[in-house]
Amino acid sequence: MIFESLCWILFGIALYNGVIILYNLYFHPLSKFPGPKLAACSHLYEFYFDIIKNGMFMQEISRIHEVYGPIVRITPREIHIKDAEFYDQIYCTGSRKREKDPQFVSGFVSPQSVITTIDHDLHKKRKNMIQNFFSKASITEIEYHILQKMEKVAYRFHDACRTGEILLMESIFSGLTADVITLYAFGTSYDYLENRERANNLQSSGEIVARGFHLNRFFPFIRKAVFMMPNLAAALLPGSEAVVYMINGIKTQARNALDDTKEISKRKTLFDGLTAPSIPSEEKTMSRLMDEGLVLLLAGTVTTTRVLVLATFHLYNDVSMLAKLRSELKGVMLTPSYRPSWAELERLPYLTAAINEGLRLTFGVTFRQPRVAPHETLLYGEYAIPPGTPVSESTYLLHTDPVVFPEPHAFRPERWTEASPEQKQQMRKHFAPFSKGSRQCIGMNLAYCEMYLVLAHVVRHYDMELYETTFENVHLVRDLGLGFPKDKPLSVKTQVIGILTE
Ligand code: HEM
Repeated sequence: MIFESLCWILFGIALYNGVIILYNLYFHPLSKFPGPKLAACSHLYEFYFDIIKNGMFMQEISRIHEVYGPIVRITPREIHIKDAEFYDQIYCTGSRKREKDPQFVSGFVSPQSVITTIDHDLHKKRKNMIQNFFSKASITEIEYHILQKMEKVAYRFHDACRTGEILLMESIFSGLTADVITLYAFGTSYDYLENRERANNLQSSGEIVARGFHLNRFFPFIRKAVFMMPNLAAALLPGSEAVVYMINGIKTQARNALDDTKEISKRKTLFDGLTAPSIPSEEKTMSRLMDEGLVLLLAGTVTTTRVLVLATFHLYNDVSMLAKLRSELKGVMLTPSYRPSWAELERLPYLTAAINEGLRLTFGVTFRQPRVAPHETLLYGEYAIPPGTPVSESTYLLHTDPVVFPEPHAFRPERWTEASPEQKQQMRKHFAPFSKGSRQCIGMNLAYCEMYLVLAHVVRHYDMELYETTFENVHLVRDLGLGFPKDKPLSVKTQVIGILTE
């Protein structure tokens, strides 16, 4: 009897799945779009490449385009396009509504943050609440915060030069970026730079969060469990203590921000902005502040850090590149101790090109950033993409197009400084590390300011040798939300061998 019931249940499941597969292949509104049948019939195709093969769907999408052309169906419900000319149609601003894909945003840890807000109008309201904090003028005002943190970094480098300590660049840069964003967002710097162990842990925790990205997408309950029981999660996932430290810290800051009796600080923090009297009460909840706080902290730390780490590797791996940049920097930093402003540094072509290469080869983020046009049919050649369909273009594919970026995986600032105006225009079209349109990164100005100030300071001051670090450590081929190397961690170790005095 039990056996018979089991057989009926299995038969029912098989029949149900068979009907869905048939529907996906022959009756679904996307059934006429090119692409492999296996990808069209179920999400198992994507699951295989992202979960079993650990973040390799991005590479598979690249292969699919080679076989089927610039527009392909990559899952039963999703279209991917490889055509920079069409990018602005997907990632647009103005009155054209663009929503996030609910199935995709479940990969993130914070469902109520601006980055995961699905609805176009609610997103706009939430972005407006913090947009001003990230304007160029606002970031210019806090340059001194970054310079203050740079002093701590300088201390670490000097100390390492004296003791011969091997420096983990990702730990130093993430310490700096996290200290800056926590001070700006919450009014209290978490002082990662003061605590070497915590700073080391910060980067590994960021990587753990990234590694959970695809798992969360397929099994969203994992994220909920981690959030509900952060201390248990830390015990089960060694190396994630820094995330728990973050979550607990943000909880305290959120509680303070929501406390009506709190003292009003002179300098407004981001959390003050999110709890201002003009903000509707349904937006002033613990969970909303926690989600926004965690996203700002993680997004404000790991992405910028990776660009700095990757650029440091390439610059110190090639003496001629390093010499070229140093000589350019000497034009504005007559002595190493001179502190140039962001505005002065932005005018330097080789430094700008090095930062561009860092952004290009970290790809900003590697996840594919699907956008949904809720009421608009997008036309691509003979194909009409129905409203409500998630559509994306991967930055990875744009940034490694060999026609626009010959030898795409090589770090060559010269490709920017020596390009003709036509080439530059093509490169700009294919360059989207911060995404574009209404959902573009809000932290761009902060990221640029940090990258210019930090890279200039490091290159102008320190002679370093790479330590047990090769190209394989920075060659990103896996997509775990962020780009990861094939086997090694993204990590750059250096030894400071000299401090420049003139
Ligand atoms: C080099 C550094 C950075 C890169 C490459 C980068 C890249 C990106 C990208 C590609 C997106 C779009 C994500 C999507 O479509 O889902 C994004 C969104 C976002 N980023 Fe960044 N980011 C960087 C730095 C920062 C910083 C410093 C902050 C803030 C402290 C920040 C905060 C955000 C937020 C809040 C969003 C969501 C914006 C929205 O949904 O409208 N990012 N970032």
